[in-house]
Amino acid sequence: MKTDDLREAYLSFFESKGCVRRPSDVLVPHGDPTVLFTPAGMNQFKNQFLGVGPIEFTKATTCQKCIRTGDIGNVGVTAYHHTFFEMLGNFSFGDYFKREAIHWAWEFLTGKKWLGLDPTRLTVTVYLDDDEASNIWNKEIGVPVERISRCDEYENFWPAGAPTDGPDGVCGPCSEIYYHTPGAPKPVEIWNLVFTQFNRVGAPPNNLKPLPKNNIDTGMGLERTASVLQGVITNFEIDTLKPIVLAAAETVGQKYELEGPSGRPLRRIADHVRACTMCIHEGVQPGPSKQGYIVRQLLRRALLEGYLLGKKDPFLSQVVPMVVEMMKRPYPDLVASQEIVQNVIREEEKQFLGVIDRALPKYERLAQKAGKGGTISGKEAHDLHSQEGFLIELIEAMAARDEVKVDRKGFEACVRDHEIRSGSGAFADSVMAEGPIDAIRKAIGKSEFLGYSDETGTGKVAGIIAEGKLVNDFAEIDSAAPIGVVLDRTPFYGEIGGQVGDTGKLEAKSFVLDVTDTQRDGDLVVHIGRLKSGKITVGDEASAVIDAERRAGIRRAHSATHILHHALQTVLGPNAMQRGSKVEDDVLRFDFAHKQAMTPAEVIAVEREINARIADGATVKTDVVDIKTARERGAKALFGEKYPDLVRMVSMGDFSLELCGGTHLSNTGQVGLTRVISEEPVAAGVRRIVAYTGEKAIESVRDQDNLIKQLQQQLRAGLPSELPAKVTQLQDELREVKQELSEYTKQSVGIESQKLLAAAEIVNGVKVICRKLEKITRDQLRAYVDELRGKGGSVALLLAAVIDDKVALIAAVTKDVQAKVKASDSIREAAKVVGGGGGGRPDLAEAGGKDPTKIDAALEAALATYRKALAE
Ligand code: ALA
Repeated sequence: MKTDDLREAYLSFFESKGCVRRPSDVLVPHGDPTVLFTPAGMNQFKNQFLGVGPIEFTKATTCQKCIRTGDIGNVGVTAYHHTFFEMLGNFSFGDYFKREAIHWAWEFLTGKKWLGLDPTRLTVTVYLDDDEASNIWNKEIGVPVERISRCDEYENFWPAGAPTDGPDGVCGPCSEIYYHTPGAPKPVEIWNLVFTQFNRVGAPPNNLKPLPKNNIDTGMGLERTASVLQGVITNFEIDTLKPIVLAAAETVGQKYELEGPSGRPLRRIADHVRACTMCIHEGVQPGPSKQGYIVRQLLRRALLEGYLLGKKDPFLSQVVPMVVEMMKRPYPDLVASQEIVQNVIREEEKQFLGVIDRALPKYERLAQKAGKGGTISGKEAHDLHSQEGFLIELIEAMAARDEVKVDRKGFEACVRDHEIRSGSGAFADSVMAEGPIDAIRKAIGKSEFLGYSDETGTGKVAGIIAEGKLVNDFAEIDSAAPIGVVLDRTPFYGEIGGQVGDTGKLEAKSFVLDVTDTQRDGDLVVHIGRLKSGKITVGDEASAVIDAERRAGIRRAHSATHILHHALQTVLGPNAMQRGSKVEDDVLRFDFAHKQAMTPAEVIAVEREINARIADGATVKTDVVDIKTARERGAKALFGEKYPDLVRMVSMGDFSLELCGGTHLSNTGQVGLTRVISEEPVAAGVRRIVAYTGEKAIESVRDQDNLIKQLQQQLRAGLPSELPAKVTQLQDELREVKQELSEYTKQSVGIESQKLLAAAEIVNGVKVICRKLEKITRDQLRAYVDELRGKGGSVALLLAAVIDDKVALIAAVTKDVQAKVKASDSIREAAKVVGGGGGGRPDLAEAGGKDPTKIDAALEAALATYRKALAE
């Protein structure tokens, strides 16, 4: 059975059992700071498990895109570890439980109509005391007891070890199903059935409280099960992965053999390029922290593997088309961003190849120094990591190959900036405990948003959060930390989709609250601000008034953003897709995919197109439709964004159609004017445009006018068009004056040098000159040295000056003198005295110092050095 068919069979099997087929969540989950990437199918259903929010369905099934990097060292080594993989799952939120979960799993695995696996090759595990599950397997399904094993909480509980080690929250025992492929060394776990039935509260004992309802969360590894069905002994041999491995082999110029020396590296390259393609497609850019760091790490590891196989130029981007080919059936959007993904990867590759060339020899020296079984110190690893960009994970991977250890603890101690680290803890499975906001969600479900049509409205205070806790009332005026207030209805827009949150006031009989920001938490709107008077209590009726002028500016900027998106695609082509945006009061920032800097002509063309569409006075309309209809109509959507079933579609005239929850104008003419302020790079393959709208755009024109007027006055230009000629004239004059000055300096240096030579002390036939020069530049100081050395015969000198409040020292000796004394000898002594350091060659040395009051003493020291050395 092909992998694509297995995915479909699973989902339709569970649909036939009444589960609702839901789309995969995006790879970077929104609003869940406990995970960097979606690690399992159940994460998107956290609220359903907790019984929070509206109940739309009680049974679901998904194929979830997952990323786990905890096992990254095993990728390519074992038969079935990946970074990116797909997890098939079926879920119950207080609906079916153990019996159905087990029966259905068995039916799907062994049923002739479904996978038809040989039941005698299947074994199962259950949690230590889970007699219920064991009995269902044995008595109802007929699995013999010798093929049912009982394991502890680290094997058969989810999250693993939850009873003893936490985290608090929903958890439960699980039952795993293994399949033993003929010829394979051992059975492989293909499916994990979790019986989510407890809420863990605190440390043991008696810390597992039965949940009011029992849930089911299962996870079947798509690639593992496909390898079982296809009778191959590693996941990398299945129909959707093998071609990627072969594509990697071809671009690197190697032959792929399972057990061959390039087998592991090629499997890793295939895995990592697949994971990065999926991430970059969803808008994750390689970068210094969080998800971006992981993507960078994966790309660098993959590139290094190729490099060590002898491939010294960029190649990873060439593997991308095969990844897209293999993944496009379930994820058709990948096709549209293939080129963008390739550009991003290519740029990152180019950057890192320079790093490898520099860092590899350094690494090799360290590894040699440590020797087999030895250790590269934390400091050494840190230098390589932070100075050379040779990530610690790469150092460890290389060291493992060379059987050298790396002092990771020491490394961690060296790392000051904790943000930059990937932190394996970030991959811990999501903490399932309820937050304060969940209680509010339980009470009201969602905040009704009135702000598409209204700027004021009344709502009831549904919850108050102060210092991270839910409180019933709050009376501290101008509290140090702001509080969060949730209303059941509000015109305030909570920040989402790039549009900033509203500001304004909540007013009631009993209080006034200044709202300085508004945020969203799922469907709840949280007003953030400080109490100005009175006392706020849950249940109060408040009138909510937003800052209407600010909102109008935000609306202009948001509608202009859509017009800009259209203009970019018109001028640069369909690949200029949105990668991010920020919409504020008459200011917008828009990130889009584009390989190189836009030309000035392109920027002008984009600005012209935007203003033409504004001048059209096109109607702006919003419609709420189901996501399928929106896609069929060609509405622009963001990859990596999770959309609800019903989406809001914003259209402008006949040129723009986007999925968007933001607030907009009713007519494009209301933008007034848009000015592009800058166009700059933000990341590999991504550019950023900043533009102003409305009054701000006009103001920026006015500011420039004023600047020009000011310049006209200063340069006495009658017309602005005369300004360039005036500046050229000034530059010419300046050049001439500089030339004259330099001539003059040369002459004066010549005359002054003669005086210095005449006054020099003569020691054993050598003219010794140690002097301080006043009001002098560094260049002039050097000119003196050249003159004195060139024209004075045998000379040993040290000159000092104060430049920018610091001491500048320069010493020189002629060639014939060097056998006795070097410039560096005298400068060392002098620099010590003025609290500085420096050095140089035997004939010429420079140094700096902090203390100008010690210059005379420094000159004495230099003189003494010369006298002593020359006298001998
Ligand atoms: N959530 C369970 C797992 O990831 C199914 O194994």
